[in-house]
Amino acid sequence: MFLEGDLTTAPIPEFPAGFRWGVSTSAYQIEGATTVDGRGPSIWDTFAHDPGRIADGSTGDQACDHYHRYAEDTALLAGLGVSAYRFSIAWPRIQPAGTGPANAVGLDFYDRLVDGLLAAGVDPVATLFHWDLPQALEDAGGWLNRDTAARFAEYADLTAARLGDRVKLWITLNEPFIHMSLGHGMGEHAPGRTLLFDAFPVAHHQLLGHGLAVAALRARSTSPVAIANNYSPVRLAGDTDADRAAAAAYDALHNRLFTDPLLGRGYLDALGPDPAVVRDGDLDVIAAPIDVLGVNYYNPTGIRAPEAGSPLPFEIVPLDGYPRTAFDWPVAPDGLRELLLLLHERYGDALPPIQVTESGCAYDDAPDADGRVHDPERIAYLDGHIRAVREAMAGGVPVTGYFVWSLLDNWEWAEGFTKRFGLVHVDFDTQRRTPKSSYTWFRDLVRR
Ligand code: NOJ
Repeated sequence: MFLEGDLTTAPIPEFPAGFRWGVSTSAYQIEGATTVDGRGPSIWDTFAHDPGRIADGSTGDQACDHYHRYAEDTALLAGLGVSAYRFSIAWPRIQPAGTGPANAVGLDFYDRLVDGLLAAGVDPVATLFHWDLPQALEDAGGWLNRDTAARFAEYADLTAARLGDRVKLWITLNEPFIHMSLGHGMGEHAPGRTLLFDAFPVAHHQLLGHGLAVAALRARSTSPVAIANNYSPVRLAGDTDADRAAAAAYDALHNRLFTDPLLGRGYLDALGPDPAVVRDGDLDVIAAPIDVLGVNYYNPTGIRAPEAGSPLPFEIVPLDGYPRTAFDWPVAPDGLRELLLLLHERYGDALPPIQVTESGCAYDDAPDADGRVHDPERIAYLDGHIRAVREAMAGGVPVTGYFVWSLLDNWEWAEGFTKRFGLVHVDFDTQRRTPKSSYTWFRDLVRR
């Protein structure tokens, strides 16, 4: 349904034929059904059930009940006309305790989903790890334990053995930086560790797991392989040498820690990689060629020099002068163009084609008296960010896809159900899905 006033006037410049338009979700945020068909507990089940961790006290026990409603959700994808759907596979459905043979019933779910997508003309894009580590592996040290990297490759092998003939793009890890920093550095995400810079092994073991998984996937599937990193261009808030040093430190941590070694540059000395953790040969495993770099972008970050005595080498400051989402994140499409150009300039020929694997915004969307959900801010957000991608492409950056986060309003981690990112509104009491005006807008864009 087209709602008047939602479309911006100037048409979005044309994209090349074959450009991949998609939407993204992740397992724990939408599936629910956390105890059925042999699924084991994940660190997010444990964390969400720990009182005080989640803003509204909710859990992902039901989420969007996608596990039971995937056919309805596939129909929404078909109606949207996207060429790809990025979902994640819940490791604890495949290996309930993180090791051992595959749970066939768990794989069956993704088998049905993938077949349904293909029948609807939608390419399945599967992420293997979107933060829901089997709890049993966490009990053995989680990503602090080097063995988890090997376990991850084993899980990748089991999954690709079943789905490798039909998944069109594999994504090993989602946002390993956020999993390290919020999950293991700051304690805001599962597993809730507060190690600050002692979380470095979590970075290295995730990267090692990625490299080992690339080899496992290549052995089972001819489909391309990617990783989805998130990036945030730095906005300098200050003009002293100390401010510039702080900005470089933040950029190294957020934008380079995972990408430099992936693209063959090893770790920056400034990050002080621990030689007891990084063993001989690891960097070669990590730098195994990938076919696509997934880029998740939400906003730039304001940085200045820290106060004396701060445990961090930078201070994050709010950015003035931008509209803001319900998350209070600045809306800065220019940041996406700048980021894509920066990656291109920084990595040159070593940079594989990019797909923007997440881009989106939270607003307090609610049905009006007629039951329609009108979200002009989201349309403006997407319009701006899609133009920014096109401009970066015109500047020479190889971008081959763009995925909106997210298809559905869903369970937004520590924010619970309080942040709505969907093109489709979900009433979490009734599970009723209502396409928002942004859904119609994006459908019309994709058609064009
Ligand atoms: C990135 C994460 O991959 C996704 O799970 C999350 O919902 C969005 N950012 C929005 O915060």
